[in-house]
Amino acid sequence: MLAGKRILLIIGGGIAAYKVLDLIRRLRERGAAVTPVMTRAAGQFVTPLSVSALAEEKVYSDLFDLTDEAEMGHIQLSRVADLVLVAPATADLMAKMATGAADDLASTLLLATDTPVMIAPAMNVRMWQHAATQRNLATLLADGVRVTGPNEGGMACGEFGPGRMSEPLEIVAAIEATLGGGALQGKHVVVTSGPTHEPIDPVRYIANRSSGAQGTALAAALRDLGAQVSFVTGPATVPPPAGVEVITVDTAREMRAAVLGALPADAAIFAAAVADWRVAVASDRKIKKTKDGLPQLSFVENPDILSEVSQMPEGRPALVVGFAAETDDVVKNATAKRARKGCDWIVANDVSPETGIMGGDENAVTLITSDGAETWERMGKTQVARQLADRIAAALAD
Ligand code: CTP
Repeated sequence: MLAGKRILLIIGGGIAAYKVLDLIRRLRERGAAVTPVMTRAAGQFVTPLSVSALAEEKVYSDLFDLTDEAEMGHIQLSRVADLVLVAPATADLMAKMATGAADDLASTLLLATDTPVMIAPAMNVRMWQHAATQRNLATLLADGVRVTGPNEGGMACGEFGPGRMSEPLEIVAAIEATLGGGALQGKHVVVTSGPTHEPIDPVRYIANRSSGAQGTALAAALRDLGAQVSFVTGPATVPPPAGVEVITVDTAREMRAAVLGALPADAAIFAAAVADWRVAVASDRKIKKTKDGLPQLSFVENPDILSEVSQMPEGRPALVVGFAAETDDVVKNATAKRARKGCDWIVANDVSPETGIMGGDENAVTLITSDGAETWERMGKTQVARQLADRIAAALAD
């Protein structure tokens, strides 16, 4: 899929640099050529010899190497590639990129290049979450830099959280999507995600436990296959993925308007946990305790966005997918829900408290289509997302 493409790979100085050796192998297997550049610190983690042996190319490492300059100047080197990939992108490299510093070969190439740039950040969780790094990330995203990862998990330093570099195959998928090889290239997909908040008064609302993890993973997986994703999200706890159009909403009615505004689309995936009801008349002032007794809330039903889009007389996406969060009779209820809502597929999951799925990392999914029910083994939400994205790509290719 990457035949004939050249990746200028800038290897930063972090423990995750060891994964770069596997990454080079994976890129080469797919037909890509890799021109490696190592920062001085990268040499503390991997040797130029192993990098060069796997890439089957010379490793560039110092701006002031005059022999290299005679062979190929740094400006030219920055332009030979179809994509510049920074992996691992350390906090320091990100800071240099965000400020435009150019004090070594790697940062000079990044400033001089006119080709797309992708970074795979890797660092300690506190460093990732630090306001300075997040500010730099926002600057880089605004500059058009693609970002893959970081993933959440245990880290070499013993801490847990976001900061692990994406796995080599995730980086390869992101590169394939960027360079145009993805199966969903040219397709537009709308994804809803997260909970909705339905106001009671200016300070109180009705919500649910959805973290937005499954919808976010799905949007990222669709993006990695090359789709243009409109991500309509309620107030989720998981941050939205990079590289998608993010439309933030609070209420079900706002979500409906955002979805209809994002159409037309080739597919619409409804992973949001939309509140079924809202308070009929939300108070515009904070409801106070009074001696006259407890407040009485009356409810009205929210618009069912999935049903409405599934049954659109005109402009219905070719594939409409709903999720069904069930606690009992999962397959029976989800099959009935598919028929009732008029969608093509229902992704059913068992959210009974003992499964730990709502708000957790894993999902146990049954896919309900016109062909019946197909139960998948319990797996991580990222894996569920990838499997589902592949199925969506196959369905849209038919
Ligand atoms: N959904 C929606 N708009 C709503 C309610 C739900 O788009 N107002 C979508 C969800 O995003 C999900 C699917 O419908 O894809 C099913 O949601 P779920 O809450 O499981 O179903 P309900 O319609 O609430 O049915 P029930 O209460 O019978 O479980």
